[in-house]
Amino acid sequence: MCGIVGYIGKRQAAPILLEGLHRLEYRGYDSAGIAIGGKGKLRVAKRKGRVRELDTLQPQKFKGTFGIAHTRWATHGEPSDRNAHPHCDGSGRYAVVHNGIVENAAALRAQLTDRGCIFTSDTDTEVFAHLIALMDDGSPLESVVGAALGRIVGAYGLAVVDAERPDTLVVARNGSPLVLGIGDGEMFFASDPAALVRHTTSVVHLDDGEIAAVRADGYETRTLDGATTVKTPSTIPWKDEAFEKGEYTHYMRKEIAEQPDAVRRTLGGRLDTRFQTTHLGGLQLGARDLLDVRRVKILGCGAAYLAGAVGAHLIETLARIPAHAEPASEFRYRNAVVERDTLYIAVSQSGETFDTLAAVQEIKRKGGRILGIVNVVGSTIARECGQGIYLHAGPEVAVVSTKTFTCSAVAMALLAIHLGRLRDLSVASGARLVRALQVLPDHIAAILAREPEIAQLAEAFAGAEHAFYVGRAAGHAIAAEGALKLKEVSYLHAEAYPASELKHGPLALISLQTPSVVVLPRDDLFAKNISTVEEIKARGGPVIAITHPGEAPTTFDRSFEIPALEPELDPLLLNIPLQLLAYHVALQRGTNIDQPRNLAKSVTVE
Ligand code: G6P
Repeated sequence: MCGIVGYIGKRQAAPILLEGLHRLEYRGYDSAGIAIGGKGKLRVAKRKGRVRELDTLQPQKFKGTFGIAHTRWATHGEPSDRNAHPHCDGSGRYAVVHNGIVENAAALRAQLTDRGCIFTSDTDTEVFAHLIALMDDGSPLESVVGAALGRIVGAYGLAVVDAERPDTLVVARNGSPLVLGIGDGEMFFASDPAALVRHTTSVVHLDDGEIAAVRADGYETRTLDGATTVKTPSTIPWKDEAFEKGEYTHYMRKEIAEQPDAVRRTLGGRLDTRFQTTHLGGLQLGARDLLDVRRVKILGCGAAYLAGAVGAHLIETLARIPAHAEPASEFRYRNAVVERDTLYIAVSQSGETFDTLAAVQEIKRKGGRILGIVNVVGSTIARECGQGIYLHAGPEVAVVSTKTFTCSAVAMALLAIHLGRLRDLSVASGARLVRALQVLPDHIAAILAREPEIAQLAEAFAGAEHAFYVGRAAGHAIAAEGALKLKEVSYLHAEAYPASELKHGPLALISLQTPSVVVLPRDDLFAKNISTVEEIKARGGPVIAITHPGEAPTTFDRSFEIPALEPELDPLLLNIPLQLLAYHVALQRGTNIDQPRNLAKSVTVE
């Protein structure tokens, strides 16, 4: 999604901003641009395509100690040089970069055109540059921007630079994240802390409805109404090296490999071997509050939603509380019933996904109790929920989630054990699960060590354009995640089905060219799943089984066996080979694995 980065200080701004843009590339974008201020002028360069294509315009040579830059993900207007940000007013004095959508852009554009403004792009953002130019009455820039924002309806994270006010940049936030980075005699800002960590880990998160005047020696924040706000800086817990690819050719592969350590961090200090339960310090709900919970509703998007689906099974199984996961984007629009005895859980790696945030806000507005399962500390969803479980998985750079899917499911397991042990889950069962979680990272490592075998499984997809992923109960959530990974990174059409549903339609599509990946734990549903395998084989479909060792009444075309751990937690392990499978199919097909076409890491617009 769109990214913003800004700098003001004593150093040359252009190299800092261009490096920041490279740091934002992982989020997904279609064009990039930069505006540098110096000697009363702005120099602007922008280009469709990658940041390295912007580099060919040589913006690194622009002299000046303050500026703003942007990676754009098209919403209004096609990806093109003219629609890339920054956007300027007619005189070129003011430049704006913007994430989000100006909903009343068409009406404003008509009014501004009547007043003589000439538009040079199809974007909604450009109206803002013209508005500032018209409304500048010589007040401080933050006041002018505040007044202009009063005319805007919509969501934004934006930054403004004025060639003639070299000591101040202005940023504002309403629905799209913005973080200030505090340096020594210099200030930074970005829509994503990833662009800042190289320079500072001391940050201030803006809240919705806040504007900040950013100067080399500090910042001031205020609300849109002009009331001063007081912010407390926090520290980003990630080091710059965590964002490096290191020895790996792809971030996705690196992040898959990081899972044992990431899971250890999610578990860190949370397993309680005295009472055979889990300790969740980020929950503000005590035992009595949690005993009142009659239902659990889990919300998220993409892989986060599917981690929620795994979590719903865990909670229902271990705590015997009806639990259900739903895409946050559906929930927020369907005027859902919010009940006081339901526990709502928002799952999000970034903590910035717009639909998930909107669902959280809707639940809070209706008086529901919500907690967040979030990776990025201090992110909007984490702050909005005010309580929850941080994953501590480290930064995830590949657009597709791998380690944070696993860590979110592990966090769900921690919560499910916690809720279960407050109810009917016995000490013995608690002990069994706590023990299993302790060794989970080693089991993941053992699967990862067998990567060459999984790479061979990928050959089953040679010549295929479609695949089915099949599973039952929690296995279905894992199948759905496996299919999501495959379609995202390999561009193969993959569909996940509950095993029982195959005969109600999809069997018509089974053929020699349509492999089916069957998630086949050796649990009490094993025999049922074998019947499904038979149905597929009888129609000539190749079957790839991800399963546990043991005699099977039928043979598979290919299989990958992992030792069983505990039935409730086995789905988490069965997912690991599916991640590697998607990766190797993509590798064979030569796709852009870390930045799949049309996808963004963090979808911060509707
Ligand atoms: C985007 C990404 C997915 C991710 C989803 C939710 O669609 O491409 O990989 O699962 O957003 O992101 P979140 O940050 O909320 O977990």
